[in-house]
Amino acid sequence: MALNSRQLDTIKLAYDDRGSGQPVVLLHGYPLDHRMWRPQIEALSKECRVIAPDLRGFGQSTQRSEDAHSGVSMRQYAADVAALLDAIGVTEPVILCGFSMGGYILWQFVLQFPERVKAIVACDTRVIADSAEAREGRLKTADEVAETGVEPIITAMLPKLLSQATRDSQPAIVDEVSTIMRSCSPAAIAASLRGMADRPDVTVKLAEMTQPALVLVGAEDAISPPDEMRGIAEKLPQADFVEIPGAGHMTTLENPQAVNDALLAFVKRL
Ligand code: MLT
Repeated sequence: MALNSRQLDTIKLAYDDRGSGQPVVLLHGYPLDHRMWRPQIEALSKECRVIAPDLRGFGQSTQRSEDAHSGVSMRQYAADVAALLDAIGVTEPVILCGFSMGGYILWQFVLQFPERVKAIVACDTRVIADSAEAREGRLKTADEVAETGVEPIITAMLPKLLSQATRDSQPAIVDEVSTIMRSCSPAAIAASLRGMADRPDVTVKLAEMTQPALVLVGAEDAISPPDEMRGIAEKLPQADFVEIPGAGHMTTLENPQAVNDALLAFVKRL
């Protein structure tokens, strides 16, 4: 489907924009694009205006040729989202939802533009930085992806993204997630891996994030486990914590109904 797009300085950002009313911005994870929010875009756009960008380099968005080598910081992705909101005239505070890498970007957005955030939804994400080993692994993959292509990344990621039960019994979801990953360019993957490898630990900053917050996690999330996410909810001044049953990391597609119910209940309470 052709998306809307806006030229922002050196890049073009594509985005889905549906519904009307309170703006809700959905930030996707790695290596994915806005389509990972398909069920939430459908459900939320009946109540709100949903803006779901493809982050710099992903989906139908572009990146600068140097980004693959220099990396794109979580702060830069957040600045891109703010520039997109400016370009499309969204000046009121938004409900900002970030999934995994989108969550790393969400924290940076809240810290840079607190007045632009009405409420926070943190899905299957983390606040700590990478371990030295994880960082090294990311940088190695970033160096190699232009040559290896995306397929080895898909093979490595699928068991981390989806629960065993999803992999065994929901082939359509396995296909949907694989298709989105397969469409990511090696350059976007390299840029985001370098950015994630350098992301700061924001644990101590959570206390400053005073907006109402919802923290969602799949009960079998292997990347951002429930106990770690419960800790995030406890450190945020005003957060509810919801564990999504029957889901690994990719809650939005593995148990869309439970995610939609939690999101809609939160949005209606604001
Ligand atoms: C994601 O889903 O965005 C990634 O798993 C995040 C990460 O690799 O840390």
